[in-house]
Amino acid sequence: MDGTFLNYIGGKWTPPKSDKSFQRENPATGETIGVFPDAGPEDVADAVAAAVKAWDAWRSTPAPHRAEILFRAAEMMMARKEELARGVTIEMGKVLKEARGDAQEAIDMTYYAAGEGRRMFGHTTPSELPHKFAMSVRQPHGVIAAITPWNFPLAIPCWKLMPALVTGNTVVFKPSSSSPLSAHNLLRILEEAGLPPGVVNLVFGGGQTGAALVEEPGVAMVSFTGSLEVGREIAAYCGRAGKRVHLELGGKNAIIVLDDADIDLAIEGAVWSAFGTSGQRCTAASRMIVQERLASSFTDRLVARANALRLGNGLDEAIEMGPVVSRPALEKIEQYMEIGRDEGATIACGGSRARGDGLERGYLFQPTVFVDVQPRMRIAQEEIFGPVTDVITCSDLEEAVSINNDVPYGLVTSIYTLEISKAFRAMERITTGIVYVNAGTIGAEVHLPFGGTRGTGNGHREAGQAALDSYTEWKTVYIDYSGRLQKAQIDR
Ligand code: UN1
Repeated sequence: MDGTFLNYIGGKWTPPKSDKSFQRENPATGETIGVFPDAGPEDVADAVAAAVKAWDAWRSTPAPHRAEILFRAAEMMMARKEELARGVTIEMGKVLKEARGDAQEAIDMTYYAAGEGRRMFGHTTPSELPHKFAMSVRQPHGVIAAITPWNFPLAIPCWKLMPALVTGNTVVFKPSSSSPLSAHNLLRILEEAGLPPGVVNLVFGGGQTGAALVEEPGVAMVSFTGSLEVGREIAAYCGRAGKRVHLELGGKNAIIVLDDADIDLAIEGAVWSAFGTSGQRCTAASRMIVQERLASSFTDRLVARANALRLGNGLDEAIEMGPVVSRPALEKIEQYMEIGRDEGATIACGGSRARGDGLERGYLFQPTVFVDVQPRMRIAQEEIFGPVTDVITCSDLEEAVSINNDVPYGLVTSIYTLEISKAFRAMERITTGIVYVNAGTIGAEVHLPFGGTRGTGNGHREAGQAALDSYTEWKTVYIDYSGRLQKAQIDR
């Protein structure tokens, strides 16, 4: 697999003018996956220029025709699903079963967005004046900068690229330097599916490449998924520069477990949501808010399940949890162990790197459960992005909901209860962007809006019909066929 990869600019695989490159390693083994360009400002400018040039013809292409290319791409992704999934596992570590899910989510999003080619509805409404027609239609922004994280190397790029493309935007795509291979694989498919040159361009690199892209004057809108800190910087820049911006920035999600819950079901949901993808999902459950009477039995069972998880290289089908993405990620998680202990929390299981049986080769961290956690502790407020969860006790639904809402993020909450009135009361009071009842915090589907409140975003949503609102602007059109000057608000 070891090879040298290129940027994709104006329909050509292009070596970087920067003459710089970086290597990506498999986080489970340390083996090199490939050498990728580290695009500099000149490369980024070329990519944006190609996207600007391609825009007019692309926006003028009828949407159903744009969509046909996406349908073809979806078919090709389906045919190559296994290869795509393996690429995900080797570059960022999630287990193969989950990598297949990542590929499937990308496919689902591509089909869904392609379907919009023959929908993309606007509105018509009666005018207040006679012989006057009023409607609103969607129009694309122009060039979209899509800056994506490594935790869903296929799905998240497709959440951004596919709605952007079907609505007539062109794109410069800058994937995380921790997941360049899947971006390459995706671009190959889009190229083969027949996307015209310049409609999607790919530049590899890290934060500096991303910053250069955001600052390119030809970029009309930035869509970014990543950390709160970087997202806020991007938003500040875009505010000053007058650019559109869409942000998805993490979570501190909770599962609320009430006394009357189906406890077996809650444990299943908790294990999957806390330790799936090694806790590296924006949607991961890093807090369990459990009603007092259940707390100790719930914790015992969660700990037993955490201790039994099989850790290792995600390419092995028997493995249940893979490594975290990188050494800095591992070190950040280790630091939170100290932070939690210093704050007075207790580690009920895990708490350190996984060792033995060659596990040291990968960035494997043991599934960890903190107990004796107070809601305002840093470990209960900050996103750790690893296989770490807290058990916090609560006395009733009211308290659970207020603990749940009192964090800087607002992505997902789930509640386990068999009492319908409690479920509805929770739905009403919970302030996150996504709520699950009797299911874990992960499992968002592509045809519903995805995103959150507070620090999680800036009010936009990804996926579903909401994505169309992110990637288009409304154009309101009035057609006056009365043949005389009519004055709105004045002629009555
Ligand atoms: C993310 O963690 O950034 O619901 C996306 C889920 C997935 C998407 C997660 N469908 O966990």
